[in-house]
Amino acid sequence: MMEEVGIGVVGLGNVGSGTLAILAENADQIALKLGFRLKVVAVCSRSVGSKRLPGGLGDVARTADWRELVTRPDVRIVAELVGGTTVAAEIIDAAIANRKSVVTANKEIMAARGPEIWERAIEAGINLAMEASVCGGIPIHAVLREGISGDRVEAFYGILNGTCNYMLTEMEGRGATLEAVLAEAQALGYAEADPSADIDGYDARSKLVLLAALAFGEKIAPSDIFMEGIRRISPIDFQYAGRLKHTIRLICGARKIPDGLILYVRPALIPLATVLAGVRGAYNAVWVKGRYGEDTLYYGWGAGALPTGVAVVSDLMRVAREIRSGSPERVSPFAHERLGEYRPVPVTLQKRAYYLRFRVEDRPGIIACLAGILAHKKISLEAVLQEPCDTKHDLPFVITVEPTSEQSIRDAVEEMSRLDFMREAPLALPMETAL
Ligand SMILES: NC(=O)c1ccc[n+]([C@@H]2O[C@H](COP(=O)([O-])OP(=O)(O)OC[C@H]3O[C@@H](n4cnc5c(N)ncnc54)[C@H](OP(=O)(O)O)[C@@H]3O)[C@@H](O)[C@H]2O)c1
Repeated sequence: MMEEVGIGVVGLGNVGSGTLAILAENADQIALKLGFRLKVVAVCSRSVGSKRLPGGLGDVARTADWRELVTRPDVRIVAELVGGTTVAAEIIDAAIANRKSVVTANKEIMAARGPEIWERAIEAGINLAMEASVCGGIPIHAVLREGISGDRVEAFYGILNGTCNYMLTEMEGRGATLEAVLAEAQALGYAEADPSADIDGYDARSKLVLLAALAFGEKIAPSDIFMEGIRRISPIDFQYAGRLKHTIRLICGARKIPDGLILYVRPALIPLATVLAGVRGAYNAVWVKGRYGEDTLYYGWGAGALPTGVAVVSDLMRVAREIRSGSPERVSPFAHERLGEYRPVPVTLQKRAYYLRFRVEDRPGIIACLAGILAHKKISLEAVLQEPCDTKHDLPFVITVEPTSEQSIRDAVEEMSRLDFMREAPLALPMETAL
């Protein structure tokens, strides 16, 4: 068997520990596939002294100083499994400067600075891999980079945040409030103490940036993407969505049209009959629509130590194979040799049917008043739904409207919010019919 390839792992938390467990337990299988062994030569975390390492790894150097790890001559690949955008960025930069290939699970850094990091990786003649950064256990990067790279992606729709999907499907299943399911998700370790990154959409947006770059070859800034979280969704919305034969999911949408690219992260009504409606709990899914191959669907765990560890180990194997074969040609982690400029289509120009949910102080003439505002904005009302309710001072009901522009809906909602019988601003959710 050929000489082994040395690996250095920085970060021994969820993903780091899952990665090491797989590298130890599955070492023989990995060597059979590669024809040589992957050898973890050094690990690093702040509290490295207290970490238990899997016995099967053999002799491993421990350090609390990542600089020591990235400069070791026997480390050929650095796995950055720290997270965040500060130290992790320094580790990646230092690894490249020391001509070590990098495997990372860091969606934030790769979404914000990925193309520039790749440029430096090319100059240094090393490789960069980031499968674990999106959808943990689903090999969606490999699919877009290689599996269906011969196709032309026209659109994709993803459920990319497991925490939100867990929360929404719990609300859907048992009518629990968002606050109650958030507390449970935190107790189960699905949600952070500060849940904003998940429930306000930031995490999903970073993942959308990366998948859209791979699918369409455009350099996208996270701040260019329309983003709305799930904080305003309540159990009553699932009741009304159900009556409309829909459910609600946090959808990451990407669609190429002649004028440019439509990208968004937002809760949307999706038909119960669509496969994405069947994605429950902390699972993720991506539905890709190709011009030639048409529909393909990818489904699996979006996070977790072992599913994400599989993605990291598979990247380590691919990069190690390239090091061994000495190939100077690298497939870009963004699937395109160079990324072009992003041509965003503003969300306000998009046209869709909408679900409008109101909470009002009941009195005669409310529907007529709202219908008048819609008519004035040239929005056609489709249906009015009202579940029996005995709280006349806080009465929920729903109006659905025919496809119209996001701008018209925003204008109508703004005007409606000022009406004195409105308990809160109306909730407007798009009805995603392209699925
Ligand atoms: N969790 C998941 O399921 C999942 C899924 C997909 C992608 N990811 C991504 O994977 C990355 C890691 O996530 P995680 O959940 O494994 O995080 P985590 O459990 O918080 O682990 C982070 C690790 O980094 C170490 N660390 C932090 N600062 C350090 C420093 N200055 N020097 C050396 N080590 C340092 C910590 O050390 P100490 O333990 O010693 O403090 C800890 O071992 C993130 O980019 C995340 O977005 C995670």
